[in-house]
Amino acid sequence: MDGEQVASPAAPIAEWLTPQNTAIPVLPALAGRVIEVASDPDVSLVQLANLIGKDQVLASRLLQLANSAYCAPMQEIATIPDAVVRVGADGVRNMVFTVCFSSRMYDPSIYGDHGSLLIEHGIGTAYLARMVAELVDEDEDEAFLYGLLHDIGKLLILKLAYDYKRRSGTTVPAEEVATALEQHHASFGGITLKRWGLPLTLEEPIRCHHDYRSASTAPRKAMVVYLANRLSHRYGFGCDPDAYNILGDAACREVGLNAAWLSENDGRAQGLFEVARQSLIGAPKR
Ligand SMILES: [Fe+2]
Ligand SMILES: [Fe+2]
Repeated sequence: MDGEQVASPAAPIAEWLTPQNTAIPVLPALAGRVIEVASDPDVSLVQLANLIGKDQVLASRLLQLANSAYCAPMQEIATIPDAVVRVGADGVRNMVFTVCFSSRMYDPSIYGDHGSLLIEHGIGTAYLARMVAELVDEDEDEAFLYGLLHDIGKLLILKLAYDYKRRSGTTVPAEEVATALEQHHASFGGITLKRWGLPLTLEEPIRCHHDYRSASTAPRKAMVVYLANRLSHRYGFGCDPDAYNILGDAACREVGLNAAWLSENDGRAQGLFEVARQSLIGAPKR
């Protein structure tokens, strides 16, 4: 980088970059249970409401979401069962994931400035993944999840650098962390998902979100998250906006994402992102 010397060149797996050397933040037990119940096709909404009601944070977030512009209720929703009905089982599951994901990225001593930016980038990409999934007839709620979690491997890499410093007293050079984040976050995302015991249908799109052609079982899902991530960078969700010519990308042609779709989306993406951010994490605009 501009003649700067990187302290130790980025080996494929450097000394500190060994995933078995750290504890991945676990999903809270209640959240895991909510996700399990909400993913059951025979889920009872009463059962789901009872679970959510046990956690104040999840309960208040659910009410907030059910009353948000995103859900647009005809009248104010004041109870958890009504909110579960309004948001639906998949919506509840996605809300729980978002709350868990964002609550685990906020520790600045571990994640520095990356944490809040990754949360914004994840939420923006989640909503864009829904839109692209709708275009290609993929499951939109599932797309929300792999969009939300696509860069989760960055969390693991930042945690490894933090743990290495605590263990050895040696700071991993910032350039080396940056290189590892860029080169390894997709595969480390796959590792995180496996450790969480999440379905493999989520793991592959996350692992292949920069290289959708390497997906062997669900290439369409990988293409959805690839494009959602491209769009997220176009709009600057949790990052600087880029000027990549997305319409020139082969993936756009493959899914039929054209100039008319892009123009319509360009007009509404920012507003939808603000609604999503406030509904899901209650964060004011930074
Ligand atoms: Fe990425
Ligand atoms: Fe990304």
